[in-house]
Amino acid sequence: MDYKNKISELIKAHVDLEINVIEKLIEIPPKPEMGDYAFPCFQLSKIMRKSPNMIAETLKESIDKEGFERIESLGPYLNFFVDKGTFAKNTIEKVLKDGDSYGSSNIGEGKRVCVEYSSPNIAKPFHVGHLFTTAIGNSLYKMFKKEGYDVVGINHLGDWGTQFGKLISAYSRWVDEEALEKAPIDELLRIYVKFHEEAEKDPSLNDEARLNFKKLETGDEKATALWKRFRDLSLKEFERVYDILGVEFDSLAGEAFYNDKMDVVVNELKDKKLLVESNGAQVVMLDEYNMPPCIVLKGDGASIYATRDLAAAMYRKKTYDFYKSIYVVGTPQALHFKQVFKVLELAGHEWSKDCVHVGFGLVKFADRKLSTRNGSIILLDDLLKEAIEKTLEVINEKNPELENKEEVAKKIGVGAVIFTYLKNSREKDIVFDWKEILSFEGETGPYVQYSYARANSILSKAENICGEVDYKKLSSKEEFELVKSLANFNNQIKLATDKLEPSILTRYVIEVAKAFNKFYNAHSVLNLEDESLKATRISLVKSSLQVIKNALELLGIDVVQKM
Ligand code: ARG
Repeated sequence: MDYKNKISELIKAHVDLEINVIEKLIEIPPKPEMGDYAFPCFQLSKIMRKSPNMIAETLKESIDKEGFERIESLGPYLNFFVDKGTFAKNTIEKVLKDGDSYGSSNIGEGKRVCVEYSSPNIAKPFHVGHLFTTAIGNSLYKMFKKEGYDVVGINHLGDWGTQFGKLISAYSRWVDEEALEKAPIDELLRIYVKFHEEAEKDPSLNDEARLNFKKLETGDEKATALWKRFRDLSLKEFERVYDILGVEFDSLAGEAFYNDKMDVVVNELKDKKLLVESNGAQVVMLDEYNMPPCIVLKGDGASIYATRDLAAAMYRKKTYDFYKSIYVVGTPQALHFKQVFKVLELAGHEWSKDCVHVGFGLVKFADRKLSTRNGSIILLDDLLKEAIEKTLEVINEKNPELENKEEVAKKIGVGAVIFTYLKNSREKDIVFDWKEILSFEGETGPYVQYSYARANSILSKAENICGEVDYKKLSSKEEFELVKSLANFNNQIKLATDKLEPSILTRYVIEVAKAFNKFYNAHSVLNLEDESLKATRISLVKSSLQVIKNALELLGIDVVQKM
């Protein structure tokens, strides 16, 4: 049963407010003494010209109390205490019936959301910063899907720009073919760095590179073939990382994809008299909005990053007719997106208000003991490898007999890293500390995964359950708190998608795991005389297991059956 809905209807019978307005006002109180749901009467007070306390008092008397243990008024609040047995029955039966799809809704039915995430640069290493956008975007993608939206996951690859002219020049001079095949990104990075060193001494290299990019832009066959090779080789490496992470995309349309779609944008801006010349470049002035001008064409007529983003936004609107278009990109690019969205607005595209930049912080390390191959850049590959190795060490110590140790270590290690990225609100920087991240205690990925495995082990020992389930028996504080947290899943998904903040779900799954452990530490499940109580508690364990699994799934983290 949807209690918020039920309560809204009960209140609706006595007041003059729309049902969905009432529903939005209903809160989940922070303390159990304040009930399971609360309705604040402030808004009614304005309409009814009575004090909120008085309204709460009157409503308490007149509302139908069926299905509730009691209804109380506390100051301006009306507090609802649900009937625990009914609540447990409704919740657990729904979780068990829905299974893997528990938490799904149709909030987003008929609406399409574009989520752009990851978007690494071709021929550049995939470093620890890229996991931030990848993990947040992947999780938002899954959450929107869960809410019934039609979601398009886009990897806006950085596969275009003058750097490709430089790479072509560097390739023709210094490439080591064997190294390129073996470790493509390392080799491409090496020759790219070399290009910059050499161009310091011989600036004519820059002219050649510019020419090479021009060739690429105009579809020269040789240049295009090389570009394609760099792209394919890099993608192959990226895909290995995506595989480990279990991340997928619906579209790999990167910057190059818009090469032939920019003229339209430039012409449109020209027609609308938005383009002006500034130091030889074509720009849209934004000083009225306290922003530097948005450069659309450089002095030599070449497009830039922003031009491609303008074209991409228009393309996405035209192709997907989105309800929302989300860009998961680091906070340092906030100004860039503000400029792009403003230019779209000035060009009369009112849908620019549906474009949202989702920023995030930096990744730092408490102990810089991570091995690095490329100077100061920490590769994600290395980070994940280290996480897996360290987890394997822990398993070898704690549970050396475990089957599929490698597989388990991979899921826990990678899960621990993803969990760390999604644990705090995304604008905050992450400080990496192995000890903390991989700990089985505290608010970590392994702690949640361990709770799952623990629940699983209880179930595997539960044989010959013959008692009849009776939800009234789940009356203890720990049981009821756990049931309540299981019932809260949909709410939390909604909050997380509204705020575009996966950490809300990370916090939630920690809460469920904690509530589960509290319950299990306080109450027996298997060692019970009362067969009916045993059967009932087992169904509570089963549903906890299911909710932890579903929530982790939305974060992009796999569960393990044993650990
Ligand atoms: N490739 C860029 C980078 O690594 C990020 C692209 C962000 N997305 C966009 N639509 N501009 O910095």
